[in-house]
Amino acid sequence: MNIPNNPFLGTHYIGKEEIKAANEVLKSKSLFRYQGPNLKYKTLEFEKNMAEYLGVKYVLGCTNGTSALKLCFIANDIGPGDEVLMTPFTFIASAGSILSCGAVPKFIDVDATMNIDPSKLEENIGKNTKAILVVHIQGQPCDMEKIMAIAHKHNLIVIEDAAQALGAELKGKKAGTFGKCSAFSLQAGKTITCGEGGFLATNDEKIYKKAKMYHDNGGFRIGDNYPTWENGTTFFGENFKMNELQSAIANEQLKKINNILDHQQTLYYDIVNNIDLDFYKLRPSVPNSILVHSNLSIIFDDEQDCAKFIRFMNKNGIGFTNQCNNLINQFDTFRKQQSWHHTGFPYNLSEFEETECYISKSLFKRVAWFSLSAELKQSHIKYIVKKLNEYQNEF
Ligand SMILES: Cc1ncc(COP(=O)(O)O)c(C=O)c1O
Repeated sequence: MNIPNNPFLGTHYIGKEEIKAANEVLKSKSLFRYQGPNLKYKTLEFEKNMAEYLGVKYVLGCTNGTSALKLCFIANDIGPGDEVLMTPFTFIASAGSILSCGAVPKFIDVDATMNIDPSKLEENIGKNTKAILVVHIQGQPCDMEKIMAIAHKHNLIVIEDAAQALGAELKGKKAGTFGKCSAFSLQAGKTITCGEGGFLATNDEKIYKKAKMYHDNGGFRIGDNYPTWENGTTFFGENFKMNELQSAIANEQLKKINNILDHQQTLYYDIVNNIDLDFYKLRPSVPNSILVHSNLSIIFDDEQDCAKFIRFMNKNGIGFTNQCNNLINQFDTFRKQQSWHHTGFPYNLSEFEETECYISKSLFKRVAWFSLSAELKQSHIKYIVKKLNEYQNEF
């Protein structure tokens, strides 16, 4: 049996609602968020609805999660000479957005949760450390209480990469609402989607205003009027604005978010409640957290055991893979990169005195990962459980 392995969560839920909303925008001939003959204000509506969902004051729609992440650094004046602590166990954009501001990522290790290890933070804080970038990897919240306490003690800014964690919570508070600001992605593989898209979330008016200007080429816009670059507050920015079509689709997806999350959770528990959790070690999580169950991650003590398990599952049509194919700090692309640093420019990142990330290095070869596709039917789930139990009995 070939088991569906389609990681595109929100995409699966695209239905007549999204089609109707997109058609409405097309018919209005008003695709730009600030002007049009019959503007529907879908981006404004999306920002308001998302702010309400997250429980924050401000949301700014963006072209994608990468641009939203860059805005988080720009709005906090993070740039040349600054270091940002983060783990290498993430998607390249987490580090890329730091580099694109001229700052330098400093890699520290994960713990068994696969998220940043709070106990490694203090020993890595130096005089150039300005911020901590926490990544709620694969929809699982980081230990925000510990991280916020350390950040507070050392006067560091906390930025959250919540690209993969829309809907995750910790002690009743949504991931992405703990730090100074956060970035989310609406790319096709995320909880909800409009193909490409993203947004910044914050409670801080100053951050919001600076991000809003930067994402609009640094101009100052009153209402929907054409911006000015001559009022003394303006600067050179970039164009990261979300368009009305994206927003119309994202709005409809947001209405479905609880269904999406519940469905994913059901799929997850239908599997894990029927396997031996003394044999299969699952990814541990911080107490009182609610996860986005985008996947099933099984952790093995040994790389060979993990590889053997993946081979067995693949032979049986179940697409388990290793977590990712490399850690960011080991990519050649990254090691060849230059940036600014307090020691000057050009600064080769390969010269950077890295702390060793032993757990990250070993985990990515010891985790077997399976995407919980929304297309999984009960017959597929039963088959997966059967094969997991078969593997346990055989080995
Ligand atoms: C952890 C993480 N950060 C940032 C991004 C960037 O988001 P986008 O693809 O919308 O630019 C992604 C997207 O996959 C991601 O997974």
